[in-house]
Amino acid sequence: MATPVSELSVPKLDFFLGNNRDDRRKVLRATAKESWLAQTDIGYTVLTYESVMGILRDKRWHSATGLAAQMQGIRDETFMNRRRRVSILNAEGEVHVRLRRLVAPAFSPRSADRLRPFMRDVVNELVDPIAHTGQSEIVQDLCEPYPIPIICELLGAPKEDWQLFSRLATDVLRIFSDDLQSVLQIIMDAQDELNAYTRKLIEERRNIPRDDLLTDLIAAEESGDRLTTEELEMMVEAVIVGGTDTTRNQLGLALVLFAENPEQWNILRERPDLAPRAVEEVMRYHGAVGGTVRFASEDIEYNGVLFPKGTFMSTSMGTGNFDESVFPTPDSFDITREPVGQPQLSFGAGIHYCLGASLARAELQEAFVTLSQRMPNLALNGSVEYKPTGVGIFGPAKLPVTFTAGN
Ligand code: HEM
Repeated sequence: MATPVSELSVPKLDFFLGNNRDDRRKVLRATAKESWLAQTDIGYTVLTYESVMGILRDKRWHSATGLAAQMQGIRDETFMNRRRRVSILNAEGEVHVRLRRLVAPAFSPRSADRLRPFMRDVVNELVDPIAHTGQSEIVQDLCEPYPIPIICELLGAPKEDWQLFSRLATDVLRIFSDDLQSVLQIIMDAQDELNAYTRKLIEERRNIPRDDLLTDLIAAEESGDRLTTEELEMMVEAVIVGGTDTTRNQLGLALVLFAENPEQWNILRERPDLAPRAVEEVMRYHGAVGGTVRFASEDIEYNGVLFPKGTFMSTSMGTGNFDESVFPTPDSFDITREPVGQPQLSFGAGIHYCLGASLARAELQEAFVTLSQRMPNLALNGSVEYKPTGVGIFGPAKLPVTFTAGN
């Protein structure tokens, strides 16, 4: 007989745990050594590799990523109706399976590879103006602007629209705000503008197909089934929501780690072939998405515990990635680490596993190779300032660095 979770005595954690990166990580890892499960002020959290995988791979746990508005008590009907619309990010069951089947081929490693030369050009163009100075506030100079041109190129939006796209992405991404009420109208206006823009692009691609994601998504078909125009609009928004802030914060966290571990930066500079392993190690050591959220769609028994329908659960990928039973000597940041056969968890797992993982990997690998060549001896030039932790995506807000100029 499974024990109801409310009868268990498990450690208690504050869900948001404050903003200090090192303190947060210390508390979480110490708790994970003690227990696979902890209670939070809004539900529970699983902390070990096996339990994070166990929850994310169990389809009875449904995505709670769309519930932020509800949890903040937002009542605006127009906004809530939009949040209820189907999105790949929070669809479940057959609806999710269908969407995922239709779109997955367009996000294959091969599709990501065709953008690599473009990614290299973007990184080089961002480094050019700062290379001779030997210093940078690298979040502003590089991490923030990097993903937008790539997403535009992916969708087939021309260079003159990068600025427009960047503004729309910033406003759409306000859905991660912890004060949603004050930005509802801005978000909805940006969504309307983005949808109108997407419809125009779709029209153009329907007339003249090109070698880009949107053309692939329009053509995607299985047994006569296709994405509707509304679903195509939703996919474009999902790519912006899923693929912009994640990538820029992950790059920022990577550069913090390399600045703090100069010998690893040197190894990468000498061995660019290690870039794929370096990406996995950076994401293991400090993923920009440290956890995600689920709720029990029915009563669920797991590991001898009964979680009643409606239980809110967060899955701590950040501690799972330090699980000694999977990653030996987890505290050492080592880009030469032999792959262990089990993936790091920062792209999630199960049916919602990151759709853009191949693209993100390619973006980070290309940035690592170019930056390690052009910014030798990367070092911190002051203290790192971090973004607030509440929104689920975490990274540096300010990262002042020095490096050897002229490369
Ligand atoms: C380093 C960068 C990235 C990280 C750390 C990341 C992380 C994640 C994680 C953890 C999930 C699963 C969320 C959950 O289970 O609740 C996810 C899903 C998703 N990601 Fe990413 N992501 C990254 C880049 C991207 C990019 C570049 C794109 C788009 C081109 C993208 C698009 C998506 C989409 C559409 C989903 C939802 C998939 C589904 O629900 O079926 N991501 N991502």
